Amino acid sequence: MGIRVCEDRKIFQIQTPNTTYMMGVAGGKYLGHMYYGRKMDDMDGTYLMRWSNNEHSHYRSKLEDMDGFFFEYPTYGVGDFRDTCLRVRDEGGHRVCELHYDSYEIIDGKPALNGMPATFAGKEEGQAAQTLVITLKDSVLGLKILLRYSIFEDSDAIIRSVVAVNESDKKLYLEKILSACLDMDDENFELITLHGTWGRERHMIPRKVTMGKHTVSSLRGETSHEVQPFMALTTNGTSQKEGEVYAMNFVYSGNFIAETELDHQDGVRMSMGLHDDGFEWVLDPGASFETPEVVVVYSAEGLGNMTRTFHNLYKNHLIRSKYLHSKRPILINNWEATYFGFDDDKLVAIAKEAKKLGIEMLVMDDGWFGKRENDESGLGDWIVNENKLKGGLKSLVDRVNTEGLKFGIWFEPEMISPDSDLYRAHPDWAIQVPGREAGLARHQYVLDLTRQEIVDYVYESVAKVIRSANIEYVKWDMNRRIADIGSLGLDSEHMGEFSHRYVLGVYRMQERLVTEFPNLLLENCSGGGARFDAGMLYYGPQIWTSDDMDPVERLFIQEGTALVYPLSSMGAHICVCPNHSVGRVTPMETRANVALSGTFGYELDITKLTDEEKEKAVFFNQQYHKYNDLVREGDYYRIASYRENGMYDCWEVVSEDKSEALVTYVQVRFETRRKSRRLRLDGLDAKAKYRLEGTDEIYSGEMLMQAGYLQNMIFGDYGSRLLHFVKEA
Ligand code: DGJ
Repeated sequence: MGIRVCEDRKIFQIQTPNTTYMMGVAGGKYLGHMYYGRKMDDMDGTYLMRWSNNEHSHYRSKLEDMDGFFFEYPTYGVGDFRDTCLRVRDEGGHRVCELHYDSYEIIDGKPALNGMPATFAGKEEGQAAQTLVITLKDSVLGLKILLRYSIFEDSDAIIRSVVAVNESDKKLYLEKILSACLDMDDENFELITLHGTWGRERHMIPRKVTMGKHTVSSLRGETSHEVQPFMALTTNGTSQKEGEVYAMNFVYSGNFIAETELDHQDGVRMSMGLHDDGFEWVLDPGASFETPEVVVVYSAEGLGNMTRTFHNLYKNHLIRSKYLHSKRPILINNWEATYFGFDDDKLVAIAKEAKKLGIEMLVMDDGWFGKRENDESGLGDWIVNENKLKGGLKSLVDRVNTEGLKFGIWFEPEMISPDSDLYRAHPDWAIQVPGREAGLARHQYVLDLTRQEIVDYVYESVAKVIRSANIEYVKWDMNRRIADIGSLGLDSEHMGEFSHRYVLGVYRMQERLVTEFPNLLLENCSGGGARFDAGMLYYGPQIWTSDDMDPVERLFIQEGTALVYPLSSMGAHICVCPNHSVGRVTPMETRANVALSGTFGYELDITKLTDEEKEKAVFFNQQYHKYNDLVREGDYYRIASYRENGMYDCWEVVSEDKSEALVTYVQVRFETRRKSRRLRLDGLDAKAKYRLEGTDEIYSGEMLMQAGYLQNMIFGDYGSRLLHFVKEA
């Protein structure tokens, strides 16, 4: 690890264990991008910035250079006609900004962000951080921009964020301020992004990068079911093991934009940050604004290596929860078992049966508070409904604890139902534009969390419930997107700050929650997986992946999710059969095997299972205890994809010391006479021998990786196997 600077030529080189990132100053003032790729020591290469390409041309001019220069942080209005990172308006209404290199600083460690999630140096040896801060200035505007690049000893990721400081005596208006940009030569790239909808989140969509712009974004006020703040450019023929990958992921939970643009001069610009639609931040004289972080990853060894870089970064440098490295309790959630139709006795009956099978925690989902018999009322009234929970919450929690289970509870703190006491008392607390009727979604409005008094009120009402009983887990839900943006707490000049301020309000509440209740296991959720993002992982170690728990649908969802996020963060449960989202009938083993690669639990009425199914549940729970350390801590390898082959899916987790590997194989479709199903494993010790548990079969690591394990067809659709390979002594 190291940051090197060539003072006289103003070249900056950032070295991670396997990669190099280089920038330089061109024309004496413009910070340009030189190189990002495989590690190298050479600090030359200023030609790569594309400065003065037209030296001998009669037409050479400033605008000619601006049009194709590889800017490290491009700005609007000076002749760079691609999408830029920064657009600033001055009091005169001008939007031209030209940043010149000013200075640099190298800091030991990694600065935290103010009120936002941020990666941090680890406490273990080999996890230290270093940060390069480059200062650029526009002297006409009196604007200072700090570009921050942080690296960790044990990671190939580079963490980028930007700070804008108004050094003038007039106001500046930030209309757009992204966190990272990467200008590169076109290499016939493909682009991978993650898309979907409710129940179908984060499917991998690869496509060719063609001329023009490819944009993915969310304006829903949260990350969204529809698209992830993730983008990867891959060179031709990139596979799990081969090919070059340039990827970005946003550590944020609100509106975002990510763009790839292939321009008319074979340049590719990749950028990511806060969405600029509806955004405007007022910078008073002396004030500053800090952007969220973007994680940038380069892999010379395909997508698999990119994935493991993200996983390890998030495990070692982002997730703070004390539960990160421990087995989470096997939980049973009553949502799909009862929906709103439950009472204390029903929950205790579930707990009693669950205990017999080895389940460790009962989670009471939506419907326990206010006047909430369905989704049309009650949000905001975080007061126990004693018609349902006779004797109150503490009594129920005590009864569940007496049965030997921990207790968890569901909240949707950001919401307010028009039919609630809270709304009747404070109709102005809902997000709204005066004179317009705000749109409802799931019969609810969103609370205006840009206002501190509302954040304080909601936090207290949630915390009061948690303080009142032995609550060990919270599921924090958010069941609608945000529209009709308006706050009675912001004046016209600051209304453009709303969406970012809302997210900061959510972060403030979650920070308070994990600070007051450090032993609480927090699972974030948003109508399924609309808040699966790196920002949320800073507060809770796990996130509900999707409301669709059907194991076939989950193959797509979990493949896309695990492309970026660790298995230990993916909420996954065994669902009711037929599945409530798609009606598919699948074997319980397959539902269990797929859920085993996440946090593991149940979402069905356990009291209604047959004796045979109950026996199976006991076995699945034992299996969870046996394999979870490996699944949670191991290295993940994608072996085959149902999305690509239309027949089967396969992934593998290998322990750090390569002494064991767990392979999950799901055969979605049975077909006759298909014999050559080789699962070429990865990450093993080539020289070691591995026994396939439960058999006499012994294979060398080399054989399993080069030739592959031959998996026979399983008769019928939706069959699955867990293959546990253990190194022979
Ligand atoms: C959406 C969540 O994803 C579900 O698991 C459940 O908690 C419902 N909300 C409850 O309203």
